[in-house]
Amino acid sequence: MIVYLNGEFLPLSEARVPVLDRGFIFGDGVYEVLPVYAGRLFRLEEHLQRLNNSLKSIKLANPLTHQAWIENLETIVVRNNGGDQSVYLQVTRGPAKRNHNFPEQVVPTVLIMSEPMIVAPPSSGVKAITSADIRWQRCDIKSIDLLANVLLRRQAIEVGAVETILIREGYVMEGAASNVFVVDDGIAITPPKSQFILPGITRDLMLEAMLGAQLPCREASISEAQLRSADEIWLTSSTREILPVITLDDKTVGMGKPGPVWTEVWQIYQDYKQKLRKNSHE
Ligand code: PDD
Repeated sequence: MIVYLNGEFLPLSEARVPVLDRGFIFGDGVYEVLPVYAGRLFRLEEHLQRLNNSLKSIKLANPLTHQAWIENLETIVVRNNGGDQSVYLQVTRGPAKRNHNFPEQVVPTVLIMSEPMIVAPPSSGVKAITSADIRWQRCDIKSIDLLANVLLRRQAIEVGAVETILIREGYVMEGAASNVFVVDDGIAITPPKSQFILPGITRDLMLEAMLGAQLPCREASISEAQLRSADEIWLTSSTREILPVITLDDKTVGMGKPGPVWTEVWQIYQDYKQKLRKNSHE
């Protein structure tokens, strides 16, 4: 695997960062995960815009121009043989003497890496659990400091589930690494953007796709009770696309199989990807 590190393309095994990097010491940095289908970066502009927002929120100037990001990301995709990949990029505040206060002048560390992506067809649905949202109050920043998310995801894995859905003050926020939709009375609902959730690129695409297909959907708060009585629950993310949840905390969701609205939306997503694939062969 070839990675980009601070201006160089090199094998992953040769990539090194200093131990005093603030990403390593403080988790002081931000990241993005972008899917690549048929060698093409999916929703690239949206991901770069969210990266800008995250950097601005942590008071770190973007170390690369828009054009340089595009060129480096495209090079990584090609150098790792195109096809379907998930690309990971990370910007940290770089190396500095350990001090909570960061220096004015920093040299950020920029890493881009990628791995092949195989999205399993989720035909039979998955299991999820719920937990209190123990994270901080700026979940809109795509921070590399993911300890709470890591522990929350682990909670799911330990009981044979794939995701933990987070509840804050009686309302659904998102998953440990995904956004959440419910279908209630035929309407797909996802929580509105706020400082408590990551503005997911897949989430936005789903809303856009449903509006385009005239499927009823809206952004609204979802109470815990509404989650538990939902006809359908879906998880969305760049690496998992749209996963139907059929068991929540050991109780069956809806009919206990992927629901009709999910089936329709999943198909729209697949068609959208297929169009990209065709265009990439033109
Ligand atoms: N995570 N919410 C959280 C907390 C996430 O970490 C993610 C994605 C999402 C979905 O966002 P998007 O649709 O833009 O991927 C929501 C990535 C995939 C990760 O950390 O690996």
